[in-house]
Amino acid sequence: MFDEKDLILEAKHVTRIFPAAGGRELRACNDINLKFYKGKTLGIVGESGCGKSTFMRFLVSLDVPTEGEILFHGKDITKLKGEELRQNRQHIQMVFQDPAQSFNPKMKIRDIVCEPLLNFKRIKPSQKNETAARLLEMVDLPAEMADRYMHNMSGGQRQRVAIARAIALEPEIILLDEATSALDVSVQKTIIELITKLQKEKNITMGFICHDIGLIQSFAHQIAVMYLGNIVEVMPGEDIGSHAMHPYTQALLGSIFDIRMDFTKKIESIESEAPSPLNVPKGCPFCDRCDRCMDICRNERPLLKKIAEDHEVACHLFDQEGSEA
Ligand SMILES: Nc1ncnc2c1ncn2[C@@H]1O[C@H](COP(=O)(O)OP(=O)(O)O)[C@@H](O)[C@H]1O
Ligand code: SF4
Ligand SMILES: [Mg+2]
Repeated sequence: MFDEKDLILEAKHVTRIFPAAGGRELRACNDINLKFYKGKTLGIVGESGCGKSTFMRFLVSLDVPTEGEILFHGKDITKLKGEELRQNRQHIQMVFQDPAQSFNPKMKIRDIVCEPLLNFKRIKPSQKNETAARLLEMVDLPAEMADRYMHNMSGGQRQRVAIARAIALEPEIILLDEATSALDVSVQKTIIELITKLQKEKNITMGFICHDIGLIQSFAHQIAVMYLGNIVEVMPGEDIGSHAMHPYTQALLGSIFDIRMDFTKKIESIESEAPSPLNVPKGCPFCDRCDRCMDICRNERPLLKKIAEDHEVACHLFDQEGSEA
C-alpha cells in the first residue's frame, strides 16, 4: 500500500528529553521512527501527554530533537539554519487546535490567509483581495468573510480559515494537531471532509494528531499509536478495527464503544491510571496497565517488529510472523 518511492518525510530514531525537576529527565519521545508518504494521511493517536505535539513540533522546525533525524526528501531538516530553514517552512505547514489563539485578534481574515504569501513574496499587497477570495473559496467560505475577525466566526469557520492559510503556500505536507478536537462532532465531520477533499485535489501529505481513535480510523491511511513517548503499533487505518494487535490499541478501540474518548479520564477498559512520563517502566512502557503482562515485559522493552505488510507492533506477545508467542 505504501510505496517507498512516495516517501517524503521520515523520522529516524527521534528522541526528545526535557530536563525535569530534581535533576530528572522527561523522555517525551523515545526512538521514534515514522514515515510520511505522498498524498497519504498518517494519524498519530494516544493519550494526552504521550508526546504527540512534541514530535509534530520537530516536523515544522519549532523544536529540535535531542537525538535523531527528520529527513525531508532525504535531507535532515533538524540541521537547517537561517534562510534555508525559513525557506523550508513553506513546504510543511501546521494547523493547531485553537486558531483564535494562534493569530493576532486584530488581523482581518484577509490578512491572516495572505500573510504567508506576502512573507515569501509570492503575491503583491495589491493582490490580497483576489487571493483571499480564492483561498476562502477553497475551504468553502464566502469571500465576504475576508473582512471579518476571528472572534466573529464559529469554531468550524475559524478552523477553515486556519486550513486556508495552511494551504496558501501550496505545501507538500500539512500537520494538524488536535485541529478538530474542540469542535462539535457534526462540525468535526465537515472539517474532516474538507481536508480529505483538499488532499485528493492537491495530493497533500497529512499528519493528523488526535486522541480519538474512532475519528482517526475513519480517514487516516496509516495510524501510529503512541504511548508514553513510544510508538507501540503502526498499521493501515482501514485495518485497525479488525487487525490491531497491541493491547493498548485494543484498549483504545474498546473504549470507543463505551464512551467517546475523553483522555482526561482513565481508559475504561484499562484498570490503572497512566504512569507519569517521568516514571516510565523499564521494560514495556504499558506493563503497569496491561492485563497480559508477562515477566519479560517488566524487564525488556519490546521493539517495533514488522508482523505483516505495513504493520508493526512493539509487544512481547507477538513473534516475527504476527502469531502469538
Ligand atoms: N517544553 C517542555 N518542557 C518540559 N516538558 C515538556 C515540554 N513540552 C512537553 N513536555 C512534556 O512532554 C510530555 C509530552 O507532551 P506533549 O508532546 O505535549 O503531549 P501530547 O501532545 O501527546 O499531549 C508531557 O509530559 C509534557 O508535560
Ligand atoms: S509487551 Fe507485555 S506488557 Fe507490553 S503490551 Fe505486550 S503483553 Fe502487555
Ligand atoms: Mg498535544
